[in-house]
Amino acid sequence: MTLSSAHAAPIPTALLQLLADGREHSGTELGERLGISRAAIWKQLQALDELGIALEAVPGRGYRLREPLDLLDAAAIHAALAGQLELASLEVFSRIDSTNAFFLSDDRPTESNLRVALAEQQTAGRGRRGRAWVSPFAGNIYCSIKRQFPCGLEGLSGLSLVVGLAIAQALEALGIAGVQLKWPNDLRADGHKLGGVLIELAGDAGGPCTAVVGFGINVKMPSDSAQTIDQLWTDLRQLHSQLPSRNTIVAGILLRLAQALAQFAEEGFAPFAAAWSARDEFRGRPVQITGVNVQQSGIAVGVDERGALLLDTDSGRRAIVAGEVSLRGSA
Ligand code: BTN
Repeated sequence: MTLSSAHAAPIPTALLQLLADGREHSGTELGERLGISRAAIWKQLQALDELGIALEAVPGRGYRLREPLDLLDAAAIHAALAGQLELASLEVFSRIDSTNAFFLSDDRPTESNLRVALAEQQTAGRGRRGRAWVSPFAGNIYCSIKRQFPCGLEGLSGLSLVVGLAIAQALEALGIAGVQLKWPNDLRADGHKLGGVLIELAGDAGGPCTAVVGFGINVKMPSDSAQTIDQLWTDLRQLHSQLPSRNTIVAGILLRLAQALAQFAEEGFAPFAAAWSARDEFRGRPVQITGVNVQQSGIAVGVDERGALLLDTDSGRRAIVAGEVSLRGSA
């Protein structure tokens, strides 16, 4: 696991890995296994507390996490992908500002294979429209993928829809059913937001361009972090009682996404339109689209072959390429 520089206290990764099993560990055992003093262990335990990781001291016996931790592990992800998908790179950060920002400032050449960055925590996670993406430690999935596309920016319309669809399909293949989509980039379940996609682009408008495809999925959102989320949200643990590990979920998503991105690079959005529309939470419902200066109302009827939202209005069918969708009558 890579430890990025940040202003907060460093994350004691090795200690966390020992405690992740949720069993009791004495201070002496932890000190011996890490080769540091008991005082140093105590300091690191305090750093865990600051991260919001609930820790219990068992008098006379040691320490244990209140709940076992399911940590991200690059080796486990590589193992799950073996023979199926070769990545140009896979980096797992304990803490980073934003996995999207990491790739936007990364000047290594973009390979034909995918580069992938994951983080346990983001200190400046980015959402769409300049919003923050709440990114507490070790609860969720924060992932960015860097890939080159042969077309210019114009050809990438529909990309965020393809990403959302591939994630929903991957989750279903892992036994997590019921994930729906909200145009253009939300993953939803039971009418609540489960995750989102943020695509940021580098490159010429005309020639080949590099896309940073970021996605966040709520897996086990801690309740104190949830208080800062300004909309109805859900997480995978509310959808499925026996979740696979986050490493298994990430590997399943990467496999599906790699296939979908390759097909999108060749064929564009058209082959995905029907499957996207079938998962559209608002299909057939009265919606309002809020654009920069305009509002339009109508019935959402799915998406077209470019990924534009189709809206049946009083004056006919319109294809919407930008805007925020809300159900008519809701806030
Ligand atoms: C949205 O607003 O719905 C999009 C959220 C995208 C969040 C992900 S988390 C990984 C990647 N890094 C970021 O800073 N943002 C994206």
